[in-house]
Amino acid sequence: MRNFRNLSIFFFLYTCLCLCFHSISTVGFTDRPRQHHGPGTVVALRTKAEKHLRLLPDAPFKIALFADLHFGENAWTDWGPRQDVNSLRVMSNVLSYETPDFVVYLGDVITANNIAVQNASLYWDLAISPTRARGIPWATVFGNHDDAAFEWPIEWFSPPGIPQLRCPVANSSCPGEEKCSFRGTTRLELIKNEIKHNVLSNSKKGPKELWPSVSNYVLNLSLSEDPNSPVAFLYFLDSGGGSYPEIISSAQAEWFNSTTRTINPDSRVPEIIFWHIPSTTYKKVAPMYGIHKPCVGSINKERVAAQEAKTGIMKLLVERPSVKAVFVGHNHGLDWCCPYKQLWLCFARHTGYGGYGSWPRGSRILEITQQPFSIRSWIRMEDGHVHSEVVLTP
Ligand SMILES: *[C@@H]1O[C@H](CO)[C@@H](O)[C@H](O)[C@H]1NC(C)=O
Ligand SMILES: *[C@@H]1O[C@H](CO)[C@@H](O)[C@H](O)[C@H]1NC(C)=O
Ligand SMILES: *[C@@H]1O[C@H](CO)[C@@H](O)[C@H](O)[C@H]1NC(C)=O
Ligand SMILES: *[C@@H]1O[C@H](CO)[C@@H](O)[C@H](O)[C@H]1NC(C)=O
Repeated sequence: MRNFRNLSIFFFLYTCLCLCFHSISTVGFTDRPRQHHGPGTVVALRTKAEKHLRLLPDAPFKIALFADLHFGENAWTDWGPRQDVNSLRVMSNVLSYETPDFVVYLGDVITANNIAVQNASLYWDLAISPTRARGIPWATVFGNHDDAAFEWPIEWFSPPGIPQLRCPVANSSCPGEEKCSFRGTTRLELIKNEIKHNVLSNSKKGPKELWPSVSNYVLNLSLSEDPNSPVAFLYFLDSGGGSYPEIISSAQAEWFNSTTRTINPDSRVPEIIFWHIPSTTYKKVAPMYGIHKPCVGSINKERVAAQEAKTGIMKLLVERPSVKAVFVGHNHGLDWCCPYKQLWLCFARHTGYGGYGSWPRGSRILEITQQPFSIRSWIRMEDGHVHSEVVLTP
C-alpha cells in the first residue's frame, strides 16, 4: 500500500516528452546480492524443476513469507538503492536463521511506479536473488505496486531537477515507443521472465481466462515418496491493483470453487491461501486497540486497507473446512493473525525497507507438519528475535 501522488502533469509528459532511461537505469543493480550464510549453512543448489513441493516424513515443511519488499523504490535517489540493499540483508538474515524449505513472495516485490526503466524484471530478479542463491524454491504473487505505471517524481519539474534525459525531439508521437514507454512492465512480462530463468520458481501465469489477474494457481505439497497423496494445497490468488482494480473477481472465485471441487472434493486435504491485499473480512476481525486474544501479533498500527469489493471468495473459503488460513501483506503496520469462523486471517510482516513505515522488518514463518496436520507460525525479525508464535490449527 502506498498513496499515489496525483501528477496530472505526468500524463501530459507521458505523450509529449520522452525520456531516455539508459543513464539512470543502472542504480540498484551494481550491488551484488549479499551472501549472508550463517555458520555451517550448506548451500545445495537445486538445478532441476520439481513438480511438487516435497515434505519428508516426520520433518516439518517451513515457509518464509517475504512481503512488501518494494524493490526499486525512488531509484533515482541515493536513498532508494540503499533500501534495496537493506531488504536483501533482511531476507538473507531470515534465510540464515530459519533455513526454510520454501519462500512465498507475497506481493509488492517491486515499486513499479518508481521504476524508470523499461524492464522492471531487473529489480524483480534482485528481489528473488537471496532465495535463489541458497537454492530454495519459491513462488510469487502480485501486489498493487508490481505493475503500476511509472509516476514521475515532482522534483523533476522544479529547477534544478529537470530531467536531463530526453528522447530525441517528439513531434506527434514519441519515436521508438519501446524506448520511451511509461507503461511499465506488465504482470505477464514479469512472471514470464521469472519462470523462464528460474528452475526454482514455482510461480505460474494462471489460467488465461482470468487475465489480467495473473497469479492464480495451486501448488501441491506432498510426501517425497508419495507425490500422489497431497498433504496440503497452497493456493495463490492475485488480489489485483496497479494496472487494474484491487479485487479478487467473481471469475477468480469461480476458478477457486471449481479447482477445489475437482482436486479436493471432500475437503480432506488442508488448504492454505496466499494473496496480497486483505479482503474486507479482515476489517471485521481486526483488533481495536492493541492486540488481544484470540488474535496474536505485535503491531496493530493502521486500519486494514482492504480490497475494493467483495466478490465471493471469502464465502467460498469459510464453507470449506479444509481452508486453514489466509496470508496477506499490503498493510506494513499490521502483523496479526485473528481467527474467523473455522480459519485464520493473518498478515505477514513487512520485510522490505522500501514502502512506507519504519516498523522493524521481519518475515512471517509457517511450519507445516503432517501427522497430525498442523500449522505453526511465528515472526522472525531481521535481528534474529522471534515473537508472536501461534498455532493455526485446532
Ligand atoms: C527483461 O529482463 C529479463 C532479465 O531480468 C530478461 O530475461 C528479459 O529478456 C528482459 N526483457 C526485455 C524485453 O528486455
Ligand atoms: C510534426 O509532424 C507533422 C506531420 O506529421 C508536420 O506537418 C509538422 O510540421 C511537424 N512539426 C514539427 C514541429 O516538426
Ligand atoms: C461452486 O460449485 C458448485 C458445483 O459446481 C456450485 O453448485 C456452487 O454454486 C458454486 N459456488 C459458487 C459460490 O459459485
Ligand atoms: C495435485 O494433486 C491433485 C489431487 O491429488 C492432482 O489431481 C494434481 O494432478 C496434482 N498436481 C500436480 C502438479 O501433481
